[in-house]
Amino acid sequence: MTQHNRAKSDAFTPDGFTPSGQIQFGIFFQGVNSGTIWKAEESGSQTDFESFRRIAQTAERGLFAAFFLGEGLRLREHLGRPHALDVVGRPDAQTMLAALASVTKNIGLVATQNTTYNDPADLAHRLASLDLISGGRAAWNIVTTDNAWTGANFRRGAYLDHADRYKHAEAFVETAKRIWDSWETPDGPARRVLHEGQHYTVDVTPRLPRSAQYRPVLFQAGDSPEGRDFAARQADVIFSAHPKFEAAVEFRKDLVARSVAAGRGANAVQIMPASEFILASTAKEAAAKKEWVRSLQIGPQQAVAYLEQFWGRELSEYDPDGPLPEIDPVVEETSETRGSGFHGAKARQLTDQWRAEAKDKGLSIRQFVTSKTARIDSTFTGSYSAVADQLADYARVGAVDGFNISPWLIPTGLDDIVNHLVPELQARGVYPTEYAGTTLRENLGLETPVRTADQTAETVRA
Ligand SMILES: Cc1cc2nc3c(=O)[nH]c(=O)nc-3n(C[C@H](O)[C@H](O)[C@H](O)COP(=O)(O)O)c2cc1C
Repeated sequence: MTQHNRAKSDAFTPDGFTPSGQIQFGIFFQGVNSGTIWKAEESGSQTDFESFRRIAQTAERGLFAAFFLGEGLRLREHLGRPHALDVVGRPDAQTMLAALASVTKNIGLVATQNTTYNDPADLAHRLASLDLISGGRAAWNIVTTDNAWTGANFRRGAYLDHADRYKHAEAFVETAKRIWDSWETPDGPARRVLHEGQHYTVDVTPRLPRSAQYRPVLFQAGDSPEGRDFAARQADVIFSAHPKFEAAVEFRKDLVARSVAAGRGANAVQIMPASEFILASTAKEAAAKKEWVRSLQIGPQQAVAYLEQFWGRELSEYDPDGPLPEIDPVVEETSETRGSGFHGAKARQLTDQWRAEAKDKGLSIRQFVTSKTARIDSTFTGSYSAVADQLADYARVGAVDGFNISPWLIPTGLDDIVNHLVPELQARGVYPTEYAGTTLRENLGLETPVRTADQTAETVRA
């Protein structure tokens, strides 16, 4: 550990929290987005099962704990068209994970599913099915979705305010837990689950027994104070957005305080931040690789489309390799609901500022957009051994429990991590050398839930 990190970590390690001294990896397969290169010679297809199979099996060879799929139920739009940088090419997560269950043995299968547009009895059944099919490897990454436009898919308009989404999510998750909790033994009896609340009325006799890991592991992704408190009460793991060392330690401290306040232990919730790795044998080669990766992540049309969100007008006549458009934006404010990544800023002020910044740094449209969308905070760049040293610091301090890695190339993007980084981490004693068990819960070192004595539900014969 470097002196720098040691001084910081001693100051930040929260009371009652015990670092595991280990880190785990997850893989986050994103589909088409600004982080994955789909147009290089080496790129695979974003929808062929072969891409998913190959990368999941590579991850499993590297003893990864989990394979993640996100969820986007509706593409963002701007100027009446789907936004060119949005995540497309995403097959349904549960369908894909069920297929992957049959070609993998140990890796956890994590489906991102929102609580705003699903229903608890139905989703609990589908996740229980995945958990059974996979022999106890399923997980649910609970999200509420951060936008209003998805509602248009469901005849619900904007539906639910942000604050209400977490109340709704909590009732949803508690109902799902009761459904999974309802079987005492695999051959019955199951308890009938009755729930009457502001958000749901559920009367269901669960159709499936408990899985090998009792019930799906619960991940949560959502970073607001309400989201963090919700995770502290309900989740096993947080898929966080804070991978940089100091931010990660701060996030750990914050989460420990919240889980202790929620009556759970300081170690109750694990943390796996989103991350990207650009690695090579030497620092110099890794830096050159990073240049190459960045030059391909944002294509010319995507760069122009990105600016169109903030200008609110067509900019297709502008050269992606030329300066930022001199023309003014047509909107007053950038809009959250129709495809802007920037929420409610004054458009004129922002575009003036960007033009000045690009001019100052001598950046073309494409270079400027690349600099804005690059995962500056979540990228680890360097030699295998230097990055392994860095991650070992995280492990010793307990800043995180693992990293959820978005590969910039599919399906070969994990090869160098598995072939070179994993052995370096194992040599440092901070990464598993085998799977601890056959279920995700065992592999993450999570405790098995205790069946609740539910006073409100009737017991019926299954
Ligand atoms: C690392 C991370 C990954 C996420 N992935 C998804 C996703 O795949 N689908 C989705 O609808 N929302 C996703 N979200 C957003 C969640 O919908 C979350 O509910 C949203 O950010 C609003 O909650 P918040 O205000 O607490 O952050 C993600 C959030 C984070 C931090």
